[in-house]
Amino acid sequence: MLIMAPSILSADFKNLGEDLRRIDKAGAEYVHVDVMDGEFVPSISLGMPVIKSARSATDRVFDVHLMVNNPERYIDDFVECGADLITIHAEACNHLDRTINQIKDKGVKVGVSLNPATPLCVLDYVLDKLDMVLIMCVNPGFGGQKYIESSTRKIKELKKMIDDRNLETDIQVDGGVTVDNVRMIIEAGANIIVAGSSVFNGNIEENMEKFLAIFKEY
Ligand code: DX5
Ligand code: ZN
Repeated sequence: MLIMAPSILSADFKNLGEDLRRIDKAGAEYVHVDVMDGEFVPSISLGMPVIKSARSATDRVFDVHLMVNNPERYIDDFVECGADLITIHAEACNHLDRTINQIKDKGVKVGVSLNPATPLCVLDYVLDKLDMVLIMCVNPGFGGQKYIESSTRKIKELKKMIDDRNLETDIQVDGGVTVDNVRMIIEAGANIIVAGSSVFNGNIEENMEKFLAIFKEY
């Protein structure tokens, strides 16, 4: 099943509750929340108090993407403020396996994300523990960047790796996704689609409808 996960990085933060209700009503199953620490990535976005407060606006899955170095320091806090799924970057963990276990032990879903230059082989020994792999299709840090073409081959190779092992791991894509390239991304094997600027720029309902109409083709 294809899932739409709007990234609230591009939402109107002075009306965040309203934007959350709009994407919820328009059929977003996940709310993608980008947490940036100004160290792993150049920018700083938002943290626990915003997530805690936003949590009450919708029952949808809170999908928290931690672009944070040494994320093991904050797992308990993000679970407490309402994360249902926590994604960490392989590049940001000294002990990736341990941090994956830490997230699973808290009873929430776990994802691992890879930057565009990071090869899939870093997942070899942990893939069977994961609920989701997030393929970054831009260098993380900002919304509104252009899709990096090599991501498509990476999604295909990941899909094959998952199928070869008879796993059901979700493949999430994030960065530069638009209504023009989403078919190619779905056909490569992705099933959870993150989109920031292409949902929140312009009319949210119309943008969501365009994505969901494409989903129906599959
Ligand atoms: C980028 C973030 C993304 C971002 C995507 O570092 O992880 O979630 O919001 O934005 P768009 O869809 O505009 O590329
Ligand atoms: Zn993200």
